[in-house]
Amino acid sequence: MTSTSHTTHTARTTRTTKRTVVITGGGTGIGAATAELFVKAGHDVTITGRRADVLAATAERLGVAHVAFDAADPAAVRAALPRLPESVDVLVNNAGGNTDRRRPPVAAGDLGGVADAWRANFEANVLTAVLVTEALKPRLADGGRVVTVGSIAAKQGSGSYGAAKAALEAWNVDTARTLGPRGTTANVVAPGVTSDTEFFAGTVSEEWVAARVSAAFNRRPGTPDEIAEAIFFLARPDSGHLTGQVIHVNGGAHAAR
Ligand SMILES: NC(=O)c1ccc[n+]([C@@H]2O[C@H](COP(=O)([O-])OP(=O)(O)OC[C@H]3O[C@@H](n4cnc5c(N)ncnc54)[C@H](OP(=O)(O)O)[C@@H]3O)[C@@H](O)[C@H]2O)c1
Repeated sequence: MTSTSHTTHTARTTRTTKRTVVITGGGTGIGAATAELFVKAGHDVTITGRRADVLAATAERLGVAHVAFDAADPAAVRAALPRLPESVDVLVNNAGGNTDRRRPPVAAGDLGGVADAWRANFEANVLTAVLVTEALKPRLADGGRVVTVGSIAAKQGSGSYGAAKAALEAWNVDTARTLGPRGTTANVVAPGVTSDTEFFAGTVSEEWVAARVSAAFNRRPGTPDEIAEAIFFLARPDSGHLTGQVIHVNGGAHAAR
């Protein structure tokens, strides 16, 4: 019992300590909202993404550091390492999206096209998280936090996108197991339809969104701020016994029948 109270005391005293946070895909949407929340709480934040101009604009608005690189490209991740923090307390693997929304549909019978489309979603959603986590593992502080943004699609489909997000959940369990002895946690936050992001790339109508959110118990889409709050909670020093989990933030839509 003594050790429990000691742990609680330690956690309380570190609650307001400034931490170093890296957020991939931090230039827009959920990543930018997450960066803003950590900045408001007084932490040092670095955001990453491919488009340098988008990153620079968000970084200037929030007062954070930014490093542009493609998180799905091993050489680009390696080349970015000297510009990323030397010690990392919180890594948010947020970069990703449904690449099918930015490609022409694959013609029936075009197996090469199918393979390309599946590889694109695997690279955008799985490799981005795996490569950045592997690259930063030696810099992750003991008691660190890895939070990865998955999707309700891991439970409900959406082709290669859902399959890629489901793969992330399996990878997250291994990550939690591997990092656990160091007091580091790894969890997935799984949003449902979330407004004010570039995710849908103008490909959906209001009717489509309305049909989707009608499955949520609260009948509305989520906001980037709401997803950021869940990420922030998992990243707290006091959240050290919560690991290997998937936290759904979708108004209950994952459980809808
Ligand atoms: N919005 C939703 O309804 C929803 C629902 C469930 C899950 N999600 C997940 O939430 C996460 C954040 O997406 P969002 O909704 O905030 O959409 P978003 O505004 O499109 O944000 C995605 C960010 O990831 C970056 N990114 C994508 N591929 C990258 C790569 N290879 N390397 C580096 N950065 C990359 C993008 O910047 P660049 O293009 O400049 O690289 C962009 O800033 C994604 O993982 C997405 O799958 C979103």
